Amino acid sequence: EAAGKSGYPHFMLKEIHEQPESLRQTLHGRVEEMAGRVTLEEFDRGAFADIERVQFVSMGTSHHAAMYAAAQLTARGLTANTYMAGEYADCPAPIDDSTLVVAVTQSGETADTMNAIRRARDAGARTLAVTNVVGSSVTRECDESLFIRAGPEIGVAATKTFSSQVVALTLLGERIAEDSTGVQRAEMRSLLSGLSDLPGDVQQVLDESTAADVAEALYGCDAYFFLGRGPAHAVALEGALKFKEISYEHAEGFAASELKHGPLALVTDNTPVFGVITGEDDLKTISNLKEVQARGAPVVVVAPANLADKVEFADYLLPVPETHPEVAGVLANVQLQLVSYHAADQLGRPIDKPRNLAKSVTVE
Ligand code: AGP
Repeated sequence: EAAGKSGYPHFMLKEIHEQPESLRQTLHGRVEEMAGRVTLEEFDRGAFADIERVQFVSMGTSHHAAMYAAAQLTARGLTANTYMAGEYADCPAPIDDSTLVVAVTQSGETADTMNAIRRARDAGARTLAVTNVVGSSVTRECDESLFIRAGPEIGVAATKTFSSQVVALTLLGERIAEDSTGVQRAEMRSLLSGLSDLPGDVQQVLDESTAADVAEALYGCDAYFFLGRGPAHAVALEGALKFKEISYEHAEGFAASELKHGPLALVTDNTPVFGVITGEDDLKTISNLKEVQARGAPVVVVAPANLADKVEFADYLLPVPETHPEVAGVLANVQLQLVSYHAADQLGRPIDKPRNLAKSVTVE
């Protein structure tokens, strides 16, 4: 097992550090940056011409990747909804001829997701699997598959597969949008340029992150909260899931807009709040963060370096390289992966095998 960790103390840390390479694999041959086009050999041009509605079914980290993708698709004018697969299996959403149901699952074996996709297929939906594992059960149940190519992930906590899921779903989303609603070529070029730079930008975060110091400074607090809006909401939820999963500390993610409607009552000077900012559109989150800071909460902001002057009020700043806002969330998530890892390590937790959890959940 030690040999498999390539010198890292845990598979999770190894897999976090593998992300520049796994993302290169996810992107390989799929991006034509100059032409502003995405090419997925699995799908001919026009393959999604009839699609008006996308329903994502998924669990856990995969669900957060799906939420990220749904926010992007909605911004492109498609109707995109996410369903926790276990809920969808019990109460499926109505489908019609223009509905595509996408199962997002790293392992391709998650029982809740399998059951949801069977319900969708039995109702006549077109089904597509987005998975890491070639030959997995979900690929046999779905009409079509798209592989995220992240390579094997051993740690129970999903890390590199979240990043590759978001990128693969972003590429799929662009293909769907191009075929159905049409895309703005200049906007597409800017997004694709951000994606092409992503492996190098992740490397920069890994090389320069001060997440270990932030985790140490905030050791032993009562609870840890994570805020974001749009795709950054998905990153906030993922940040909280990772934190609770491996540190066993209480952590929750919220939509920044939800804060004043209840969660604010939980905020004290012993509940650090992490704010995820991906671009100018997220600047509203800053007033939410100032509000929690005024109530004494230590505020950690994860934001692109070019917005540093807007977030200098933060008690701790975890910067990411300037990039397209829809890519910045992946970089912010890498910072949060590192915070969770170091918090759990400082607490002496069994990081790769957290109590009560399994890598693949094959019962409902
Ligand atoms: C993530 O850290 C978790 N271990 C868990 O939430 C996981 O993402 C979930 O069980 C879904 O698994 P899948 O992607 O293999 O379907």
